[in-house]
Amino acid sequence: MCGIVGYVGNKDINSVLMAGLWKLEYRGYDSSGVASIVNGDLEVRKVKGRLMNLQEILADKPLSGNLGIGHTRWATHGEPSEQNAHPQVDCKNEIAIVHNGIIENYYSLKEELIKKKHVFRSDTDTEVIAHLVEENYNGDLKESVLKTVSRLKGSFAIAVISVSEPDKIVAYRFGSPLIVGLGKDENLLASDISALMDHTRRVVIMSDGEMVVLKREEVKFYDKDGKNIEKEEKKIKWSPATIQKGKFPHYMLKEIHEQKDIIQKNVNLRIKGSEFDFGENFHFSPQELAHLSHIVIQACGTSWHAGYIGKYLFEDFARVRTEVDISSEFRYRNPVFDGEPLVMAISQSGETADTLAGIREAKAKFLKVLSLVNVRESTISRESDSTIYLNAGSEIGVASTKAYTSQIFQLYLFALYLSRLKWALGSSEIEEKIKEVKGIPEKIERILKEAVKIKKIAKKYKDGKDFMFIGRGINYPSALEGALKLKEISYIHATGYPAGEMKHGPIALISKDSPVVAIAPQSSVYEKMLNNIEELKSRGAKVIIIGSEGDKRIKEIGDDIIYIPLCEENLSPILVAIPLQLFAYYIAALNGRDVDRPRNLAKSVTVE
Ligand code: M6R
Repeated sequence: MCGIVGYVGNKDINSVLMAGLWKLEYRGYDSSGVASIVNGDLEVRKVKGRLMNLQEILADKPLSGNLGIGHTRWATHGEPSEQNAHPQVDCKNEIAIVHNGIIENYYSLKEELIKKKHVFRSDTDTEVIAHLVEENYNGDLKESVLKTVSRLKGSFAIAVISVSEPDKIVAYRFGSPLIVGLGKDENLLASDISALMDHTRRVVIMSDGEMVVLKREEVKFYDKDGKNIEKEEKKIKWSPATIQKGKFPHYMLKEIHEQKDIIQKNVNLRIKGSEFDFGENFHFSPQELAHLSHIVIQACGTSWHAGYIGKYLFEDFARVRTEVDISSEFRYRNPVFDGEPLVMAISQSGETADTLAGIREAKAKFLKVLSLVNVRESTISRESDSTIYLNAGSEIGVASTKAYTSQIFQLYLFALYLSRLKWALGSSEIEEKIKEVKGIPEKIERILKEAVKIKKIAKKYKDGKDFMFIGRGINYPSALEGALKLKEISYIHATGYPAGEMKHGPIALISKDSPVVAIAPQSSVYEKMLNNIEELKSRGAKVIIIGSEGDKRIKEIGDDIIYIPLCEENLSPILVAIPLQLFAYYIAALNGRDVDRPRNLAKSVTVE
């Protein structure tokens, strides 16, 4: 979603702002813009569409000056257009502002400002901030921003510049991420650490209710009342992952192919003999975990599907009752907590607004929170009591692939760990399962080698209009994930169902024109799955079956078969995910979709 960059220093403002925006591109956006101050005037360039359009405009009409702000916008209020792109400006074109988040009370503020003769030129909620800063300005930009944010409701990170004080950027964080980069003779700010790392490894992570005033040789932090505060500087030791597509036409395909190595890396990091090592950010003691009464998992999208698989794992291995909730429901449903629950948040980005709000809801009730997060130093990991990192590297494609399988992997090991603490599984059973886990990378590789076959099947079904994905038991969430993958990148309607539920309604949709993807590896519910597939076949459905190597029965009933290696039932969602991802990928690519940046979607969903 929206990305912010800011720079004050002596480098070329065009290249610094553009380089930062390119780094934020993966978050998803539909328009962009930059602004700087030159000789007492504000210069603004904005475009609809891809960043390349902004780059072209800047090549033609570069900004000058040594201070500027930039923005990628993902539309919430007002269509994607040049007018609605940020920076937004005040009436006199003297104040420019970029914003990530949503101003919930923008409508009443706008009415108030219109009465005071402010002239609005966009449909955005953001523009009210520019006019409020103008209205509140009394010779001190910092004071006027503080006064302004005290009137705003919602979530926001903002950066403001003004021709009256051309040596500084004033920024404020409340609910959306903002990181300051400290340099020599230059200082920066961005929504994401990756946008700073070409310039510096010294960062300060801002918290909600904090303001920063950035000058070329000085950075000062303030609390919401304007009181000077000291902030801890962090040295980023890790390097940004290489984010080139290499030989692959899309990041998504590259990321699908990285899964073997990522799981192998996690096997090496997490399994130490017969012990588990969940990393340096995991702080729960065995005693604490042994006493927990139940688990509540909350997450969004693909991460929620991984959480759903977690429910099966925790209940089966550790006999710990587990609830799974979509974060946007969890946060508003006033959940009941009794006993000593552990709240788990799962998120690739670590910035998803609803998941973060769910954590805050849990913390407000004094509950312990464990998060599974991919992006280091993200807000979700910082606000949780403990974090297990996914170690999946940067995921650029909007469709989550490698983060998902790593989430399942971490959940699997954590469930085994809990089962040991709770005396649910015996040591030999745990050892056996650890052995199975170690075999997963090689099995993923075998599936990836079959990518061409999956492409052929995708070609056959690429014109399908309605797909049904079915599964049972631990692969019911896999069916949900298969459907989500297909719809989000191909724009083809797809729905996921527990196979046993088909006859309670959805079977009415079945005809020869509605392909069904049935997930039926060897498992405790295998026979039931076959019965469900037969029921669909007898109503004319075309069925693609994902099943286990060597299974002859599925060959007789399926129209097309994708084989995966045999594995322990509870590990099968990892293997099943690979053909589901490839199937969705090829259908989307064959239909000419923008696979890595599907329409209307953002990689990091920082607004609710
Ligand atoms: O970063 P998160 O894992 O918290 O994101 C959650 C969802 O927005 C995300 O999984 C989304 O559903 C993906 N586009 C799925 O591929």
